[in-house]
Amino acid sequence: MKSRLMQQHDVAQVIAIEQSANHYPWSQQNVEDCLKSGYHACVFYDQADEILGFFIVQQVVDEAHLLNICVKLRVQGQGLGREILDQIIDYATEISAALIVLEVRRSNHRAQQLYLQAGFNEMSVRTDYYPSENGREDAILMGLDLVPTSFFKVN
Ligand SMILES: CC(C)(COP(=O)(O)OP(=O)(O)OC[C@H]1O[C@@H](n2cnc3c(N)ncnc32)[C@H](O)[C@@H]1OP(=O)(O)O)[C@@H](O)C(=O)NCCC(=O)NCCS
Repeated sequence: MKSRLMQQHDVAQVIAIEQSANHYPWSQQNVEDCLKSGYHACVFYDQADEILGFFIVQQVVDEAHLLNICVKLRVQGQGLGREILDQIIDYATEISAALIVLEVRRSNHRAQQLYLQAGFNEMSVRTDYYPSENGREDAILMGLDLVPTSFFKVN
């Protein structure tokens, strides 16, 4: 799968992917605001130039906040999510982020499994953070520490 920076003209395809994969998808405005703000956003596309996944990361001082990662419903479960997450980790390392943080719905076991396999840990819970079919739903705050352990070693 190839990847490149997300452009304004990608937004329609990106929103279609959001809508295919989420009960509460981001709006077109949400994505456009991220582009205007200069957040790091990439799309992943196949040989026919069809976008199949994307991510958006906001750098906040020495942290990389993963705001969105999404794979088109039709191609989920085939390894693209992990490929995208690996690229996010590479980007965060390149910008010398100490930590990658994200929020994930308590019911989103698939995403949590992906993050846990990549080495993320559960950091805390934001109670009733998201709207849900049953009222509200907790967000699990997860993080991946990128600071090498040796950094903390005392001689
Ligand atoms: C979460 C998401 C990005 C994962 O992408 P994907 O391409 O399906 O994931 P992959 O095929 O790379 O699978 C990676 C890991 O996810 C987990 N996973 C994938 N499919 C799963 C399923 N049906 N059930 C449970 N875990 C699953 C597994 O741990 C898997 O690793 P493994 O294949 O070695 O067991 C994708 O499901 C998605 O876009 N979901 C909707 C949007 C979303 O929830 N984003 C995250 C918001 S925090």
